[in-house]
Amino acid sequence: MNTSPLRLGVLGSGKGSNFQAIASAIAEKRLHAEVRLVMSDLPDAGILDKARALGLPVAVLPQSKFRTKLEPEIESLAARMLEEADVELVVLAGYMRMIKAPLLDRFPNRIVNIHPSLLPAFPGLEAWRQACEAGVSEAGCTVHWVDSGMDSGEILAQARVPVLAGDTPASLHARIQVAEHALYPETLAGLASVLRP
Ligand code: GRF
Repeated sequence: MNTSPLRLGVLGSGKGSNFQAIASAIAEKRLHAEVRLVMSDLPDAGILDKARALGLPVAVLPQSKFRTKLEPEIESLAARMLEEADVELVVLAGYMRMIKAPLLDRFPNRIVNIHPSLLPAFPGLEAWRQACEAGVSEAGCTVHWVDSGMDSGEILAQARVPVLAGDTPASLHARIQVAEHALYPETLAGLASVLRP
């Protein structure tokens, strides 16, 4: 491949299994990209340990007084750090806050997210629990562009998984996560080829 790797900045609040899947895809040359920065809003998020173990640069954002968004100053700082790391595409991987103007304006149409449902069904928190409670026979995950709404941006790709008799929210989430770990790197590889023709 002649083009330079797509420069990613990853944001996460959780254990970082999607980040790990992306890093593995890069290492195995299924995704022509490099992770320039891994950032978290939570200092003890597992995603940071996974990034450190791979020797990647990490950043922790100052504590926010909100639960579902960041103060504009903190989000501006996040945007600045991503810019300084020369990030081209911001990858949300289990990042648990809404994205607001400071990041949306600095990375217009350059922020992607993975959500554990077949959007537009079940946006918001614990989508796998919502799916269980609704009694649907099929669930899945969606990679989408991020806009100012809640899991409402343009859909890039989806993967489906069955909901089985006896599923609990936890067992369904585990099955969805297996699908996520294949879908996210694949979709990013497709984006890399579009953004770097
Ligand atoms: C995933 O299920 C993702 O869809 C959702 O948050 C979870 C993050 O898991 N947005 P992990 O931190 O990547 O393991």
